[in-house]
Amino acid sequence: MTASDRFLMAGVMGWPVMHSRSPVLHNYLFKQYRLAGTYVPLAIRPEGLQAALRALHPLGFSGCNLTIPHKQQAMSIVDEVDTVAKSIGAISCVLARPDGSLAGSNNDCYGFIQNLKQEQPGWRAGAGPIAVIGAGGGSRAVCYGLAQEGAKEIRLVNRTLAHAQGIAGEFGGPISAYPWERRHELLDGVALVVNTTSQGMVGNPPLDIQLDKLPANALAADIIYIPLESPFLAAARQRGNKTVNGLGMLMHQVRPAWKAWFGIDPEIKAELRALVEKTI
Ligand code: ATR
Repeated sequence: MTASDRFLMAGVMGWPVMHSRSPVLHNYLFKQYRLAGTYVPLAIRPEGLQAALRALHPLGFSGCNLTIPHKQQAMSIVDEVDTVAKSIGAISCVLARPDGSLAGSNNDCYGFIQNLKQEQPGWRAGAGPIAVIGAGGGSRAVCYGLAQEGAKEIRLVNRTLAHAQGIAGEFGGPISAYPWERRHELLDGVALVVNTTSQGMVGNPPLDIQLDKLPANALAADIIYIPLESPFLAAARQRGNKTVNGLGMLMHQVRPAWKAWFGIDPEIKAELRALVEKTI
């Protein structure tokens, strides 16, 4: 059966999930490529994740993306996890193969790095020290990507020091863990600071950090995209720093997902970004 004979289906599993802009993105592409298909939000409670993932193939889904809180739990459910996802310790994308087996991969890291490169073409991971704030699933993908790109020093700071120490211990290399009280002074001399915490996301208070020590030429990035400009990014922009928000990280993940699910390498046009931005 070729793609054109099928009704293509994929979705995003999360709890909650209705905030996700992935359906807007993917459904636009079905239209752009004149394909019969749909991408749906799948509100799945953690206790239902295994049954939901196993139902993908029988229902005719090519696969799904995963969002909070499923990225880690899903690893133990799928049949195969690729090397990058294993190293990161989380999967963000599942492929349901024709034989019914499930393959997990992580496109968060690729999305984050591609977004930085696109938004700031001259950006180099090794240009100077990097501060990463937060040590959850998003942080693992960011730290892994930055280390792979050649970062020489990553200062990882988190509210719960043990979580940062866990990542530093596992990944080793350029990553050192620091206690939360030091988050303000750690910005001294950095070339890049990344917020990977949930602070600043719609419904949450802003990230509690003072930017006085952040060099004027440092880049500030956030993996949050709702709102498009988190209070952290707004504060950085107001003092003259360049900023990169989290929307591009989401958008860059579409291509590897479509390649895996549908065998198509879609072009992500500026008008699609504008369309998604309008919904935020
Ligand atoms: P994700 O998968 O999106 O990264 P997560 O794994 O729940 O989500 O991680 C959330 C991150 O935000 C963690 O680093 C968390 O800090 P802890 O490790 O101490 O839990 C951080 N975070 C959540 N609430 C926070 C707060 N009020 N202040 C500072 N950091 C916070």
